[in-house]
Amino acid sequence: MKIKKPGDWVRHFETHGGGWKEPDWTDLPPSLLDVEKRILLANSLAIFQLGESGGGTRLRRFVRRTLEQADHRDDYLGDQHAVDLFLAEENEHARLLAELVGYLGGQLRQKHWMNGLFRKTRTLLGLEFNLQVLLTAELIAEVYYGLLYQRVPDPVIRTVCGRIVRDEVGHIGFHRSFFHWRQRTQLPGATVIWSLQFQFLFLVAETLVWRTHGACLGAFGIERSLFVHRARAVCRRFLEGLDGQSLAPEIGEQIPNPVLVENGAGR
Ligand SMILES: [Fe+2]
Ligand SMILES: [Fe+2]
Repeated sequence: MKIKKPGDWVRHFETHGGGWKEPDWTDLPPSLLDVEKRILLANSLAIFQLGESGGGTRLRRFVRRTLEQADHRDDYLGDQHAVDLFLAEENEHARLLAELVGYLGGQLRQKHWMNGLFRKTRTLLGLEFNLQVLLTAELIAEVYYGLLYQRVPDPVIRTVCGRIVRDEVGHIGFHRSFFHWRQRTQLPGATVIWSLQFQFLFLVAETLVWRTHGACLGAFGIERSLFVHRARAVCRRFLEGLDGQSLAPEIGEQIPNPVLVENGAGR
């Protein structure tokens, strides 16, 4: 994945979802997962659903401010429309996850300590730090939805998680373009310090996510070592791609659209 420019991102968000078919929620047979797994998965997805919800007020404010600076014309903050499309895609994830929670017989949540911590942390050190916290969530999301896509034996879950993980790969590229343009004006030492603090932040997020969702992932045979291995690989790939070099496909990019509909969950 190469670094894209603002205009490319509008094109990406408008065209990349083609070929995916949403399950017909009004006419689905019940999930065949056993009750224990269904409860664990519904609870876990409900927490992610909460995280995907939200209007993007802070990000929009950041965009408004940075648009006033001429040196931001080249990164994604130079294109408010692309940011709107990105936020719309996250809201679509929240809607799809709400459908999945209902399909599994679970309840949506109004709050969870991890979501509260995530939102509070984002406001701690200014808006650029806010974007870093958001980015750690995107990286973890690629791992989480990717593992569910691969390991949960339910076509509806796989169809939706496959769709979301593909979107999340795009979101990671979207944020990568911002940090890439940002670091072009920094000295190498500052970039190293930024990378170290980001890796620390990521390790904290990885630990908290396993603590919260490990029981669910474990029920589907996903051990902590696999989760950690994937998470570190995704984080490493992000950091290595910051220099703008072309990379091999990410996990989500290896999921072709026909696979998402061949399982019979599409309408
Ligand atoms: Fe998302
Ligand atoms: Fe995302």
